[in-house]
Amino acid sequence: MADITLTQALSRRRTIREFTNAAVSPEVLKRLAWAAQGITDTEGKRTAPSAHAIHPLQLFVVANRVDGLDQGVYEVDSLDSGLRMVNRADVRPALRRAAIGAPQWIADAAFIVAICADMVTPSRAFAEQKPYGERGVRYVYMEAGAAAQNLQLQAVAEGLGSVWVGGFNDEETANLLDLQTPLTPIILLCVGYPA
Ligand SMILES: Cc1cc2nc3c(=O)[nH]c(=O)nc-3n(C[C@H](O)[C@H](O)[C@H](O)COP(=O)(O)O)c2cc1C
Repeated sequence: MADITLTQALSRRRTIREFTNAAVSPEVLKRLAWAAQGITDTEGKRTAPSAHAIHPLQLFVVANRVDGLDQGVYEVDSLDSGLRMVNRADVRPALRRAAIGAPQWIADAAFIVAICADMVTPSRAFAEQKPYGERGVRYVYMEAGAAAQNLQLQAVAEGLGSVWVGGFNDEETANLLDLQTPLTPIILLCVGYPA
C-alpha cells in the first residue's frame, strides 16, 4: 500500500471504468472491506458512522480476479473482514444485465463490493421522526455513501481504481447476491487496477 496522505487520496480519487487483467491480493480486498465497514473498537463501532449505531450495512463481494479466491459471491464479516462464500456461480454476466445500461465494468472488475442494508430496522427505529417511515431510510443511504467513499479512498491508497454503480434492478441484484430478508442492495463498487 502506498503511504499517501488523506489529502492526496482525496485529490487523486476519480471514477475509473477500465481495468487491467491483473488480479488483486486478498489482503488488499480485505483492507478495502475494512475501510468501508471494519469494526474499530470493542463497542462494535465501525470506520463509517451509523445513526443510533444501528449499523444496518452488510457487505458482499463478487470475486472475479482475486488471488487464491474462487469466483463467486461472498459475505463479508465486519469483525475481521473475512469472507464466507454464499454462491459459487459467476454472477457477473447477470449482474451486468441487471444494471442500467449493462455496464462493461461490472464484467471487467477484479471484484465488486456490494453495499447492502437492512432497511427495516432503521425504518422502525426512526418511525417517530418526520418524515415518518422515511427518516430511517434516508439515514441508511447516508451511511452507505460514507462507506462507499471510505472504500474508494482506500482503493486510491492501494493504487486501485473504482466506479460506483447506483443504477440497477434491486430485485434482480438481490437475487443474484442471494440476499436474505431484510437486506437490500444499495451500491455496487467495481474495483480493479486502472487500465
Ligand atoms: C450516487 C452515485 C451513483 C452513481 N452511479 C453510477 C452508475 O450507475 N454508473 C456509473 O458509471 N457511474 C456512477 N456514478 C459515478 C459518477 O458518474 C461519477 O462519480 C461522476 O461522473 C463524477 O466523476 P468522479 O467520480 O471521477 O469525480 C455514481 C456516483 C454516485 C455518487
